[in-house]
Amino acid sequence: MSEQRNLTWHASTITKDLRHRKNGHKSAILWFTGLSGAGKSSIANAVSLKLFDESIQHFVLDGDNVRHGLNKDLGFSEEDRKENIRRIGEVAKLFIDSGQFAITAFISPFQEDRNAVRELVGEDEFIEIHVKCSLAECEKRDPKGLYKKVKQGEIKNFTGIDSPYEAPESPEIVVDAENDSVEACSDQIIAYLHDQQYI
Ligand code: ADX
Repeated sequence: MSEQRNLTWHASTITKDLRHRKNGHKSAILWFTGLSGAGKSSIANAVSLKLFDESIQHFVLDGDNVRHGLNKDLGFSEEDRKENIRRIGEVAKLFIDSGQFAITAFISPFQEDRNAVRELVGEDEFIEIHVKCSLAECEKRDPKGLYKKVKQGEIKNFTGIDSPYEAPESPEIVVDAENDSVEACSDQIIAYLHDQQYI
């Protein structure tokens, strides 16, 4: 197909492996998934701070932020969510190639879409993290006032209410965001990266 479109893949002189050696750590996607209000962005940012303190190259891609720019043409239909995740997967893959960790904080409700990203990158380069928190607790927290709006009929296709959420089948990490603090959840993730010798 690429021949038909007259496209040629250019190999980089500076390889991923060289970047890993220079940085002194590996690169991977930390793929957060969970309901709106579960704490994905807060935990992602806490992990970011800890990685920064350890001089580890990384960047956070956050659902609400990316939907302001790259994905501002997308809504919340199943088709648009799928495209949202596909694009984030491709961007995150570029971060891996650049020798950095990509920390992605998106609801990413469908297992199939998350699996597609997993297949896009190498083995051990996709770390699926279930930010586990019950719908009842997310509704109670309601940090952006969105669940209230859903109740008032102002938002349709809201994840967990009238749009499905498929919890990960076999995530690398599950954090108990309902009972554990942001600090404890982020420590758990950093410990995993050390244990598995990513960093
Ligand atoms: S995803 O399903 O496509 O992965 P994403 O993480 O990018 O979703 O965006 C979710 C954020 O968009 C939520 O945290 C919330 O702030 C906002 N949002 C607005 N409408 C909806 C909706 N119908 N369902 C879920 N989130 C919504």
